[in-house]
Amino acid sequence: MLWLGFGEMMRSGGGRPTERSGSRQTDGVSMIQVRSLRRTYGDVPAVDGISFDVAEGEIFGLVGPNGAGKTTTIECLEGLRRPSSGTVSVLGMDPSAERRAVTERIGVQLQESALPARLRVEEALTLFGSFYRRHLKVDSLLELLSLSEKRTTAFAKLSGGQKQRLFIALALVNEPEMVFLDELTTGLDPQARRSMWGLVRQIRDRGCTVVLTTHYMEEAERLCDRVMIVDRGRIVAMDTPGALINSLGADTRIVFGAPGQDVSSLSRLTAVTRVERSDGDIIVYGHGDRFASSVIHALEDAEIVFTDFRTEQPDLEDVFLSLTGKEMRE
Ligand SMILES: Nc1ncnc2c1ncn2[C@@H]1O[C@H](COP(=O)(O)OP(=O)(O)OP(=O)(O)O)[C@@H](O)[C@H]1O
Ligand SMILES: [Mg+2]
Repeated sequence: MLWLGFGEMMRSGGGRPTERSGSRQTDGVSMIQVRSLRRTYGDVPAVDGISFDVAEGEIFGLVGPNGAGKTTTIECLEGLRRPSSGTVSVLGMDPSAERRAVTERIGVQLQESALPARLRVEEALTLFGSFYRRHLKVDSLLELLSLSEKRTTAFAKLSGGQKQRLFIALALVNEPEMVFLDELTTGLDPQARRSMWGLVRQIRDRGCTVVLTTHYMEEAERLCDRVMIVDRGRIVAMDTPGALINSLGADTRIVFGAPGQDVSSLSRLTAVTRVERSDGDIIVYGHGDRFASSVIHALEDAEIVFTDFRTEQPDLEDVFLSLTGKEMRE
């Protein structure tokens, strides 16, 4: 477990910064530029030559199987890890060389974090705020993350989701221009996850660029302007969620129940590419405007009784699985 930020700040800064670095401008478009980034741990290339840009005001998502190199990539952007080779520019600066200046202007939510058990929520926010020249009021952060009722609760007594929200509040404490959220909604309940999406959009609407990782493809699809899919340290695809889904050219699925009935006639329809049985359901794959209507007509003509008829469009999860395979990684 990491002692989030505090130890790092103490080592790198030696006290409060003297100035919020604002003199250096980006080119107005790219907030992050990564070129041929490689980071190895011993002989293992965790990140193996990736290049990408993130534009101002984007919500940019990194997705990929466990061990794909997402956290390592983000840590290189945050200045927490030095690249083995390649270049990284964040807000026009090299985060390894200009760590203090970058830290002042970014927010960081680490994948694994801990705070001292007895530190209370508001104390944590005040403490972290004190590291920065510019910081948000504790009250507004508590409100933003729905933590007002937990103001005086000790860290150890927060639920998993409340801890997560506290870490996001801490990432926002310095009103950053860019925020890195590693596994934004892991451990949150469905309501909290959705409200977190609203919060991320709110953060972006305030002018903050957002880089996040997630294992929830629905989240990446709904929330991110662009998504980068990484696998084994390399980029396998990068585009808007819509373009990624279209590029797959995947079939629409029609799913229904028809226990004990012969549906083989469906395979002969021109709009249908294949028919499968799965867990008692029939899954028909196909495409085109007349796909669903031709299947319904064929079922009626053959007097097949069907239940729970539904169509499912291809989604980002289909893209993810088709590009990264279905086997679990180490
Ligand atoms: N401190 C470390 N020392 C040695 N190897 C490491 C270290 N951190 C990560 N690795 C290795 O680097 C690779 C990439 O890890 P990383 O944490 O970047 O993956 P990730 O995409 O964030 O995975 P997850 O989805 O599980 O969080 C993995 O093979 C991992 O075992
Ligand atoms: Mg990770």
